[in-house]
Amino acid sequence: MKTIVITGANRGIGLALAGLFRDRGDQVIAVCRDSSPQLEALGVQIKAGVDVTSGDSLRRLAACLDDTRIDVLVNNAGVMRKTDLEHIEQQLDDYRVQFEVNALAPLRVTSALLGRLSDDARVVIVSSRMGSLSDNSSAGHYGYRVSKAAANMAGVTLAHELKDKGIAVGLLHPGYVKTDMTGNTGDIDPLDAARGLIGRIDELTLENAGGFYHANGEKLPW
Ligand SMILES: NC(=O)c1ccc[n+]([C@@H]2O[C@H](COP(=O)([O-])OP(=O)(O)OC[C@H]3O[C@@H](n4cnc5c(N)ncnc54)[C@H](OP(=O)(O)O)[C@@H]3O)[C@@H](O)[C@H]2O)c1
Repeated sequence: MKTIVITGANRGIGLALAGLFRDRGDQVIAVCRDSSPQLEALGVQIKAGVDVTSGDSLRRLAACLDDTRIDVLVNNAGVMRKTDLEHIEQQLDDYRVQFEVNALAPLRVTSALLGRLSDDARVVIVSSRMGSLSDNSSAGHYGYRVSKAAANMAGVTLAHELKDKGIAVGLLHPGYVKTDMTGNTGDIDPLDAARGLIGRIDELTLENAGGFYHANGEKLPW
C-alpha cells in the first residue's frame, strides 16, 4: 500500500485519480480548497482548506501530515483562464493566477512536503502539451501555455535536484479531458485519463525522470 497525496482532488482528474488509487488499496490523501460530495463519497482522507498558492495553507498541510511518508505526490491542481493578446492589460490577473497555480504551486507544494516524501518517492506534475513549444501549432491561450511551459521547466529542474535524493519527478499530460476546465468537451473521461496517468506514474523511475509523457504513454516533445 502506497501513500498518495493529490492536489485539486475535489473534482475533475484529481477526483478520478483519488478514486482509482483508493480502489487499488492505496492510502489517498486528497488535498483541496473545498471538498465535494463526490470526494466525500470516496471515503479517503481529505485535507480541505488548502490553497496551493498560499504559504500558510501549505505549512498547515505539512504540519498536519506529521510523520506521514508520502510515496507519490501528484501536483494536479491547475487553472485555465481565457487570455488573448488584445486584452492582455485587462487580463493580467488571469495571467498571474495561472502562473501561480500551474507553474509556481507545484514547486511550492513539493518544497513544503519534501521532508515528508519517502526515500524512493515519485513526484508528478500534471502539465499540459499546451506548454510544449515544438508541439504548438496554434495561437491564443497565452497565459495557460506560458504557465505550463514554465511548469515543464520547473519539473525538469526539480527532477535534476531530487534525483540525488532517490526521488523521481515526471511531467504528465492527461489528454484532452471532459472536465470543468474544458467545459466538459474533450476526447476522454477523467477516469480514462486518470487510468493512463497512473500507468505512467507506475512506470516513473530515476532513469526516465524529467521526461514529459502523455497519459497514453507517448513521449511528448518540449
Ligand atoms: N482537462 C484537460 O483537458 C486537461 C488537459 C491538459 C492538462 N490538464 C491539467 O490537468 C489538471 C487537472 O485539471 P482538470 O481538467 O481536472 O480541471 P478542473 O476540473 O478545473 O479541476 C481543477 C482542480 O484544480 C484545483 N485548483 C485550482 N486552483 C487551485 C488553488 N489555488 N488551490 C488549490 N486547488 C486549486 C481546483 O479546485 P477548486 O474546486 O477549489 O477550484 C480543482 O480541484 C490541471 O493541472 C490541468 O491544467 C487538463
